[in-house]
Parts: sequence; structure tokens; C-alpha cells
Amino acid sequence: MTDDELVREARQALENAYAPYSGFPVGVALLSRDGRIFTGVNVENASIGLSVCAERNAIAKAVSEGVRDFERMAVVTNAPEPTPPCGVCRQVIWEFTHDLPILIESAGGERLTTTIAELFPYPFTSYKL
Ligand code: THU
Repeated sequence: MTDDELVREARQALENAYAPYSGFPVGVALLSRDGRIFTGVNVENASIGLSVCAERNAIAKAVSEGVRDFERMAVVTNAPEPTPPCGVCRQVIWEFTHDLPILIESAGGERLTTTIAELFPYPFTSYKL
């Protein structure tokens, strides 16, 4: 699976985003190490705080299917610039992978390639006290 193919999957998923309140659809394609693709979109709610981001939905789908080992993630929006995952999603991504490459593409095809390590250098970690 090439980067371009993964981004294309995310772009296709974007069509299913449910974002009537923000008007800001997000599409994600998460590639697992066993070659499966888990897509995710943002799902908003009239009770705005209940909205869930595309990245977390993709992770939740994969984990629900018993998959926790990830290789790459693509995130696409219709914004003029690449929009990196929010802080909450970074923490959730980090829970399962500390070195995930993330490809982030704007509407016009501008691509930012980064990693969760770069985006989230100081994660919260809990300890048994
Ligand atoms: N959103 C995501 O899906 N991922 C992010 O990382 C940031 C924001 C969604 C949430 C909301 O539905 C819309 O984008 C505008 O904030």
C-alpha cells in the first residue's frame, strides 16, 4: 500500500463524514501491520461536545476488531492547509503506537508527513501508585 493509495482511501472516507455543525469533514485511513485499512470520519452531534474525531473513530474501529498494531495513518480534509490531529487524538494514537507515520493532506493535495512521536513528544502516562 503506497502513501498515495492510503491518502486516497482517506479521501474516499471523507465522503461519509458527518459534520453538519462545523462544516469541517475529516477522513482517516489507518493501515494496520497486517495490511488492513480502518477508515474513520468525524461524527458530530447536536450536543456539540459529543462529537468524535475521525482519528479516534478509526482507532476505535480497529481496536474493536482486535487490531492494535498500526503501520501508517492518512488524514485528509477540505481545508487549504494540512490539519494535524487534535491533542486528544494524539494521546489516543499514542496509546497504541509511539512511532506511527502520519500523512496529512489538504484539499489541494499539499501533504505534511510527520509522526506521532514528532506531534506528541510529552504524552501522559499513568502509573500504578
Ligand atoms: N476533527 C477531527 O475529526 N479530527 C481532529 O483531529 C480535529 C477535529 C473534527 C471534529 C469536528 O467534527 C470538526 O473536525 C471540527 O472541529
